[in-house]
Amino acid sequence: MTTPRKILVTNALPYANGDIHLGHLVGYIQADIWVRYQRMRGNTVHYVCADDTHGTPVMLRAEKEGLTPEQLINRVHGEHLRDFTDFGVAFDNYHSTHSDENRWYAEDVYTRLRDSAKLIDTRSIEQFYDPVKEMFLPDRFIKGECPKCGAADQYGDNCESCGAAYAPTELKNPFSAVSGAKPVLKTSEHYFFRLSDPRAVEFLREWTQGSTPDGSRRLQQEAANKMKEWLGDSGENKLSDWDISRDAPYFGFEIPDAPGKYFYVWLDAPIGYFASFKNLAGKRGDIDVAAFTEAGPAAAAGTELIHFIGKDILYFHALFWPAMLHFAGYRSPTQLCVNGFLTVDGAKMSKSRGTFITARSYTEQKLNPEWLRYYFAGKSNATMEDVDLNLDDMIAKVNSDLVGKFVNIASRCAGFIAKRFDGKLGTHDAALALDWNVDEVTTAYEARDFSRALRKIMEFADRANGYVNDNKPWELAKQEGQEARLHEVCTTAINIFKALTGLLKPVLPKLAEQAEGFLNIAPFAWDNLLAPLPAGHAIGTYSHLMTRIERKQVDALLDANRDSLAPAATDTKPAKAEAKAASSEQRHAQHQAHAAATETAEASEFEPFISIDDFGKVDLRIARIVSAEHVEGAAKLLRLQLDIGEEKPRQVFAGIKSAYDPATLVGRMTVMVANLAPRKMKFGMSEGMVLAASDASGETPGLFILSPDLGATPGMRVK
Ligand code: MSP
Ligand code: ZN
Repeated sequence: MTTPRKILVTNALPYANGDIHLGHLVGYIQADIWVRYQRMRGNTVHYVCADDTHGTPVMLRAEKEGLTPEQLINRVHGEHLRDFTDFGVAFDNYHSTHSDENRWYAEDVYTRLRDSAKLIDTRSIEQFYDPVKEMFLPDRFIKGECPKCGAADQYGDNCESCGAAYAPTELKNPFSAVSGAKPVLKTSEHYFFRLSDPRAVEFLREWTQGSTPDGSRRLQQEAANKMKEWLGDSGENKLSDWDISRDAPYFGFEIPDAPGKYFYVWLDAPIGYFASFKNLAGKRGDIDVAAFTEAGPAAAAGTELIHFIGKDILYFHALFWPAMLHFAGYRSPTQLCVNGFLTVDGAKMSKSRGTFITARSYTEQKLNPEWLRYYFAGKSNATMEDVDLNLDDMIAKVNSDLVGKFVNIASRCAGFIAKRFDGKLGTHDAALALDWNVDEVTTAYEARDFSRALRKIMEFADRANGYVNDNKPWELAKQEGQEARLHEVCTTAINIFKALTGLLKPVLPKLAEQAEGFLNIAPFAWDNLLAPLPAGHAIGTYSHLMTRIERKQVDALLDANRDSLAPAATDTKPAKAEAKAASSEQRHAQHQAHAAATETAEASEFEPFISIDDFGKVDLRIARIVSAEHVEGAAKLLRLQLDIGEEKPRQVFAGIKSAYDPATLVGRMTVMVANLAPRKMKFGMSEGMVLAASDASGETPGLFILSPDLGATPGMRVK
């Protein structure tokens, strides 16, 4: 018997100004599965998280809602915790970065870096300042034209159109996204963590390429490679110092001995892991905090610190955070587990398509969270690759694996045990020994390759179903003199079901708990999953453990999340820029963080006036109607093929059937919106929109499509 591991596991702290969505849940569900598996093996795991509450976006969002930042973060804390709980993500503690523990740790780390390690510098920098709002503007709150390609309405750090990364001061015609004012350059003193110090660079070179006590990589191969790129070769120094201060007004902690200066949100965010842990220890009384957080005691106790994060925040966790910890005398992380990003049906999550699905809407639409846990687990292979949620695939997988192969074993046999054998099991059929080799499942769970674990478990399930189908208990039940055989077959099936449930418990904790009740057994532990229950063991009554997913439930979910006002361009985080130097990568990493923080705020804005830049986002083109036809089963739509000078005409469904005979449209020129996100309709994809006038009052009935003057040709831009 090896000594149990002692592990502190964390998940990234979600921003306190947005809802939890299915993208977030990828990483949280992965961590939760791993934690549950470790506990079933008898290891000690503390699993903590918190809300990431500080920064400008939270401050501005609260102001907009007429709340204090504290009121906003309190409300969101409740919402986030409820969402995680609904999805079975069971933190031991869900704390906040706006807490006494976090202030204490932030000040401690900072003063140790300043006084002992001598790695804090101050320096004057020039930055954009909003003279109306009287505040310095983070990059994400400055907009203007891209210095490289000229695209309008780009953020201050990187262009969504051409992917260029730049400094906000390089933007052409910059304006403040907060007030609209023209920003002015203003100087201010900032505090820096000297990451470029050779000691830091050396430490990080070694740390990022290191391994864990059991010999796994500290960082996945892809992440370790990325770090090599960012850190350069020995002798080189590609890291820039890290700006850790922000000027008032700012929602955060004031820096000790620096009035009016606040810790940048990313300084105290990861420290929030320790704050949450310390808060947990305060509630529990049996946890030695230092043994997990301080360098000496942690080494002596052999504890591990493992962070689960998404790939967009790798930079913070693989460079700033370990360096901060190390030079402040704290322990550095044992391992980073980095997940890729979620796409839905092959595309970025999108508000206009309804695929920006919130955790709340999923539960409100009464979809079972364990369907998603199972599907995500089946897609998780411990790499940083993106994860695609294919909705049809999810329906098929859940229905065939979980309902068809797994739950059905119990539902087909439990009734006979209840009705014919007084709820008591008989003997297990020696012909189906439960001698499965589960090592492969164990290894796969351990390595976070959940997809391999599930494939193996489903192989066992296939064998089990083969047994039930061969022995047909429903027929035995009708035959005379087969009583003993029926008892044996049903008992064996229940034992198989029990073994499968135990193996699936990290993924399906709620179902497994219900099954433990039905089977009348103690909670599963990893070392006796396969042991058959003794003859005479009484089981409870079976009530259904899981239903099938219907496509219409998924459609209702998409409808509930579809925001027809959402502009496609601001749906999600912008595409990643391929930044070369470490300094622009750094800027980019910060930009990613801000992007996430601002995405929710942007989509709901509804302005009486739009700027010329807003108008510029609409790509209007002259189109020739190549063909027009009725659509079977559609009351209002015509199917149009529109030539806008592209290789292939675009298919557009237009609601103009009441006003036009398709034959009269063919050959006509009109105007279409060419950059509307493609939308899947009942009848096929619609790849744009034609414009038509109508009288809202209804006085002049009818619909009127537009025609350009003579001479306009397909593809010309209308602006
Ligand atoms: N507040 C920071 C993390 C601070 S950790 C000290 C943050 N918050 S977040 O709300 O934007 O993201 C929380 C977690 O969810 C991060 O790990 C992030 O990578 C992950 N994801 C956010 N959107 C995601 C997808 N679309 N897909 C997969 N993971 C995603 O970053
Ligand atoms: Zn550009």
